[in-house]
Amino acid sequence: MTQPRHLLSITDLGAEGIQDVMRLTDSFVEVSERAIPKVPALRGKTVVSLFFEDSTRTRLSFETAAKRLSADTMNFSVSTSSVKKGESLRDTVETIEAMGVDAMVVRHSGAGVPWQVAAWSRGSSVINAGDGWHEHPTQALLDCYTIRQQRQSLEGLRIAIVGDIRHSRVARSDVLAFSALGASVTLVAPPTLLPPSLAGWPAEVSHDLDEVAPKCDVVYLLRLQRERMQEALLPSLREYTATYGLTRARARLLKDDALIMHPGPVNRGVEIAAEVADRPNSVITRQVANGVAVRMAVLFLLIGSGVDLAVH
Ligand code: NCD
Repeated sequence: MTQPRHLLSITDLGAEGIQDVMRLTDSFVEVSERAIPKVPALRGKTVVSLFFEDSTRTRLSFETAAKRLSADTMNFSVSTSSVKKGESLRDTVETIEAMGVDAMVVRHSGAGVPWQVAAWSRGSSVINAGDGWHEHPTQALLDCYTIRQQRQSLEGLRIAIVGDIRHSRVARSDVLAFSALGASVTLVAPPTLLPPSLAGWPAEVSHDLDEVAPKCDVVYLLRLQRERMQEALLPSLREYTATYGLTRARARLLKDDALIMHPGPVNRGVEIAAEVADRPNSVITRQVANGVAVRMAVLFLLIGSGVDLAVH
């Protein structure tokens, strides 16, 4: 495949690009299982994480991925930076680029910020690690990879994405990726937690999890993103859990081999019962583990030397 410069939206890759990343990920999963999980593929390259929003797994996962490829890493955190002294985003980006970086991994509460950073960047690659309510392409890649690992292919699978779709960048990128790979997706949420328009969302909608649960091969739960809710969108948390939570009782409706997924962070007892999150068919920690290998593949694809791209 041709070497893309940035990864901003999952649509940048298309179905073939997603498949290419998954094949490349296979070899990095193998690297991650070695006694010394490190290869020299990005020696001499520098990857900087520019996180303007909180993160546990995405930030650590990119950092681990870069280190396993022998890249140097820099970490930018708003709370200890000159952003606190009023420095603009553009000046921050230009300052960091002036130090000679190869990739910038950007997370920001504003939708579209990674596109803006890409427009300013002189030579480095930009990876969107989550922009507002908009997109989170590497999460979609690791979710596709996790399902493929368990089921060989996404073709023909029925996937339910349940919960706070409205504020979820994960939901948007996942719907686009899952449907590109041939799965059919149903969004299950109360009307107040759906986007105002579903134009451009290749998915069906349901408000009845009990009806959808027995039919799905994968049930993907989302956290209520209360930090993004400006008004009361739910009557009560308890009612939400009773209607849309994957409670123990509701989990009995699932097929025996249905996969349970969640991007994390999990609010146990709200969108999913603690015990259900720990069942054998819950692949939540597998998603995290695969996140490292998928991000190795993405970094390698964007800033690895072109000739090596054929090495699978
Ligand atoms: C998500 C995010 O930040 O978009 N988490 C993640 O990256 N794994 C989802 C969330 O915050 O609920």
